[in-house]
Amino acid sequence: MLNVVILAAGQGKRMHSDLPKVLQPLAGKPMLEHVLDTVAGLPNVAKTVVVVGHRAEVVKAHVEGRAGVECVLQEPQMGTGHALQCALPALDASAEHTLVLLGDVPLVQPETIARLAEVAGDSMAILTTVLRNPTGYGRILRQKGRIVAIVEQKDATEGQKQIREVNTGIMLLPTARLAGWLSELKASNAQGEYYLTDVIGLAVRDGVRINSARPRRSFEVEGVNSKTQLARLEGIWQDHLAEELTDAGVTVIDPSRLDIRGKLVCGKDVVIDVGVVFEGRVELGDGVRVGPYCVIRNAVIGAGSVIEAFSHIVEAKVGAQARIGPYARLRPGAELADEVHVGNFVEIKKSVIGHASKINHLSYIGDTDMGARVNIGAGTITCNYDGVNKFRTTIGDDAFIGSDTQLIAPVTVGAGATLGAGTTLAKDAPAGELTLSRAPQRTVAGWQRPSKKQA
Ligand code: UD1
Ligand code: CA
Repeated sequence: MLNVVILAAGQGKRMHSDLPKVLQPLAGKPMLEHVLDTVAGLPNVAKTVVVVGHRAEVVKAHVEGRAGVECVLQEPQMGTGHALQCALPALDASAEHTLVLLGDVPLVQPETIARLAEVAGDSMAILTTVLRNPTGYGRILRQKGRIVAIVEQKDATEGQKQIREVNTGIMLLPTARLAGWLSELKASNAQGEYYLTDVIGLAVRDGVRINSARPRRSFEVEGVNSKTQLARLEGIWQDHLAEELTDAGVTVIDPSRLDIRGKLVCGKDVVIDVGVVFEGRVELGDGVRVGPYCVIRNAVIGAGSVIEAFSHIVEAKVGAQARIGPYARLRPGAELADEVHVGNFVEIKKSVIGHASKINHLSYIGDTDMGARVNIGAGTITCNYDGVNKFRTTIGDDAFIGSDTQLIAPVTVGAGATLGAGTTLAKDAPAGELTLSRAPQRTVAGWQRPSKKQA
């Protein structure tokens, strides 16, 4: 069995932000939650402890409610070794190993942790990597190939700074040894902190064998200390997500111009044009095409549907073979059946739109139950709100709503009814009939336009 400790108490000064570093979002999700989600997928975890400190309450709120995860407070924050010391009492003493993860190293993958556990065997192991530019990281010192110490950037000699193998901060330690080693740590270093990395030297002294593993992909161990590093890692992660899509057969017109902040599930022969942002959970059915610069959040798009450029779709469902946009806005609770057409500058909220109905231009449809094959003319507005309460509009199958109509809810348009253009509908319109509210048109014979008075 395994304890997991996630170090998340530091302030992250280099972020220059009021938001604690471990809550800075990567791909739309706080870095700490990336780590917690990875841990949730690991087998054999006895106990997970998150060490919080800087703005502890705010960080805790992101941890609470997760089964088997506990927060411990580190106050003040005196270094990574001190942080682990604070976690000690909360650990399961019977779990053989304790895995240390960092809240600011968000993308480590479960396979890599499994490999680390494998090489640790019944001893211990450190995840290391070789960087072209190792500046800022702790360097791995080896003698005859074996790890003998880790020296932090600020304490390293010029010679040691040339070492390119670095400590990722992720290590698997023998639980039974921790209390002893941590009590021996000294803060006699450049930062005056208790370094967790100093346990390596103590392990060597005690004759404990230290093994090491490397991650498959380098982004897994990138630490984020500044907004520059955060932006860089975001780019690398987005490239990775785009590659997963293209490997699975999705056509991504330009993988460098796609953003996935959540989970995107695609059918066969999906095409995604440039600049699209996906948030939350989005499902695209077979053959869906998404045009440039759309935002789609928590939505399901049925097979064969086309979303044209600049559409904004949030918490909505679109059936199969539909045509949406350009410039359409589907808001929460919009449910569109198959073959619905929604055109430019149309907003739909909390409404059910029946099979093959068309709302092609400049309309607002809110709190509406619309049947099948309805045609909504340009500039139609459901007046669903009287300033205090919301009311529903019902429109029957095959109704035809003339342009520039206002439907003052609650109101019902019967099946097959026709509303004349410009109607302000305040009472129900009977099925199959023409209803219109319009002042009779007249022409004033011989009328003259006023002309400007002479001074
Ligand atoms: C640390 C390692 C370094 C490694 C690097 C990898 C130490 C001494 N150094 O350096 O060898 O190469 O990570 O990214 O361990 N934290 C606490 N309490 C504290 C201090 C820090 O919980 O008192 C947390 C931070 O919130 C952060 C993590 O520990 O999530 C790492 O701290 P940070 O200050 O970023 O360490 P680095 O200088 O990056
Ligand atoms: Ca760091």
